[in-house]
Amino acid sequence: MTDSVFLPDPENKAKSVEAMFDRISGKYDRMNRLLTFRLDVAWRKAAVREIEGGPNALVIDLACGTGDMCNDLQAAGYTALGFDFSMGMLCNASTTAALTRADVLRLPLPDSCVDAVSCGFALRNFTGIEPFFAECARVLRPGGRLVVLDAGEPKSKILRFGHSLYFRKLVPFIGGLLSDRAAYSYLPASTAYLPEPHVVNNLIRAAGFRAVVHRRFGFGAIHRFVGTRT
Ligand SMILES: C[S@@+](CC[C@H](N)C(=O)[O-])C[C@H]1O[C@@H](n2cnc3c(N)ncnc32)[C@H](O)[C@@H]1O
Repeated sequence: MTDSVFLPDPENKAKSVEAMFDRISGKYDRMNRLLTFRLDVAWRKAAVREIEGGPNALVIDLACGTGDMCNDLQAAGYTALGFDFSMGMLCNASTTAALTRADVLRLPLPDSCVDAVSCGFALRNFTGIEPFFAECARVLRPGGRLVVLDAGEPKSKILRFGHSLYFRKLVPFIGGLLSDRAAYSYLPASTAYLPEPHVVNNLIRAAGFRAVVHRRFGFGAIHRFVGTRT
């Protein structure tokens, strides 16, 4: 079966992604911990360390899901606000941060009003990556940081082979046993939406960011992009 089988038509992508996260929201956190061997916790904490905001800086977490990154932002001393369009994910959130249901491509926020933006594991779910970075640039004040995490493919051929066995065979199998096979087949297939890191770096720069840096974690399969608003 090809990956395209698990990917929605472009015009249905947003609705289908929202419905999928609504469906898996109740077990989302437990599945994340299980499938990443709890490494997702460390990846988010490391992302928060990149923000380097002052005390009480206002940081928005986009596509916040169940609020894990909001909790890490609060633990680092920031004022965190989360935005996500899946009511299921928001209802299953465990955070004291204020959460708002919104499409992160059209944030209900004025221009230049936040000190930093974070976004974990959601880039490949958006209908457009450029509109997303444009929206981040719009709401960030000059000098504010953008930190984005997402899952992709490792660089080395050997690691890509092992990763592919795990991510494309075992993850859908375990997901099917414990949660939702279609969703846990979509998740690895959707890495196809993530452009090569140098392309993402260029998109971030073109949206109005400088000092753009890409780093890999998790055997090269987790990508982190950091930029500073010009
Ligand atoms: C893989 S989850 C990541 C959740 C969380 N950031 C984390 O680190 O676990 C992807 C999230 O993106 C959200 N999402 C996708 N597209 C969105 C959009 N256009 N606007 C708001 N939320 C969106 C989904 O509802 C889902 O909660």
